[in-house]
Amino acid sequence: MTDAESVRLRPVGPGDLPRLFDMQLDPESNRTAVTNPRTREVFDAHWTKILDDPANTTRAVLVGETLVGTISCFPMDGEDHVGYWIDRAYWGKGIASRARHLLLCEVTKRPLVATVATSNGASLRVLQKCGFVVEEVRHSPATDLYPECEEAVLVLR
Ligand SMILES: CC(C)(COP(=O)(O)OP(=O)(O)OC[C@H]1O[C@@H](n2cnc3c(N)ncnc32)[C@H](O)[C@@H]1OP(=O)(O)O)[C@@H](O)C(=O)NCCC(=O)NCCS
Repeated sequence: MTDAESVRLRPVGPGDLPRLFDMQLDPESNRTAVTNPRTREVFDAHWTKILDDPANTTRAVLVGETLVGTISCFPMDGEDHVGYWIDRAYWGKGIASRARHLLLCEVTKRPLVATVATSNGASLRVLQKCGFVVEEVRHSPATDLYPECEEAVLVLR
């Protein structure tokens, strides 16, 4: 079985957080996603809020028994957004694409929205392969979490 074929999702638990914290520190991943890593304090506060909110669907991405990332659907500004993060050691194996497919089987509400830096070719490809369409390209100002960038808004209707 390939890594992509053995991908499965399960709810994220508190025991996953140390590994997820390390994953989100990776400089290359942050360059790709055009994000700033969270400090431990900000990370813990963020994940405590996420795990306590039943409106979020937050899934650990597993290859076999190994935790290799997260994928989620969450409400933001009155829309349902999706996001994901895969450990850099596992990039380019079809894992995000498979995880995206599995999440879209589980979360059936539409439309779903994703915002992606236009420089993030891999993420754009993952979304477009499963039917998301670019509906807007806009300037995104810098915040604590995001450097300034041009971002695409993709929608799955
Ligand atoms: C984006 C990310 C999730 C992709 O994960 P992945 O498991 O490597 O993705 P997959 O292997 O399923 O698919 C990647 C696709 O993008 C393509 N790709 C890779 N780099 C690319 C690039 N620079 N430009 C265009 N396409 C690219 C691959 O060829 C593949 O397409 P294919 O299936 O047609 O061959 C991963 O790089 C990541 O976690 N990055 C950091 C966090 C992030 O960017 N999250 C998304 C924020 S919106």
